[in-house]
Amino acid sequence: MPEETVLPFYRLLYRSKITLNMSHDELNRQIDDIVASSCTANADVGLTGALIAFEGMFIQVLEGSLAPLERTFERICCDLRHRHVQLVDLAAAEQRLFADWNMVRVDHDGGLARLYDMLGKSELPHLDVAKASSLISLMLSVLPPSRAH
Ligand SMILES: Cc1cc2nc3c(=O)[nH]c(=O)nc-3n(C[C@H](O)[C@H](O)[C@H](O)COP(=O)(O)O)c2cc1C
Repeated sequence: MPEETVLPFYRLLYRSKITLNMSHDELNRQIDDIVASSCTANADVGLTGALIAFEGMFIQVLEGSLAPLERTFERICCDLRHRHVQLVDLAAAEQRLFADWNMVRVDHDGGLARLYDMLGKSELPHLDVAKASSLISLMLSVLPPSRAH
């Protein structure tokens, strides 16, 4: 039986400030590495989600059962590749929105121009639950079809 039918299900969204100080290309490679290793680790514990790197900031959505979600988020919070990790929303959810991706990078060249309208130009823009929900919709609208492992 799929875990979703027997376990409560949660989704979180956080944002953080990227600390990686390197060229644009090297940063892109590092982020792709983070996403690749997260894909494998998340598949092992049944998590799905998406990551945006935008204007010096990470925004990540993670969804799954509470225990692996909390354990993974604790590790992410300790990761020195970013700081000022701010949990914007953590709530029970009825279904996975990112079921096709154990982790996927949402590339803002791929149509995320509306992020500027949503977040403005400030270094640490204000994010609240309503904005988190708009961000998730935006991420979903620009993602290509794929499949979780
Ligand atoms: C922005 C960002 C997002 C990350 N997302 C995940 C993730 O979704 N799943 C995961 O297992 N690790 C993720 N990581 C990596 C973890 O922070 C950590 O490095 C990894 O889980 C290995 O932890 P360990 O060395 O304590 O075993 C992320 C790291 C960063 C900087």
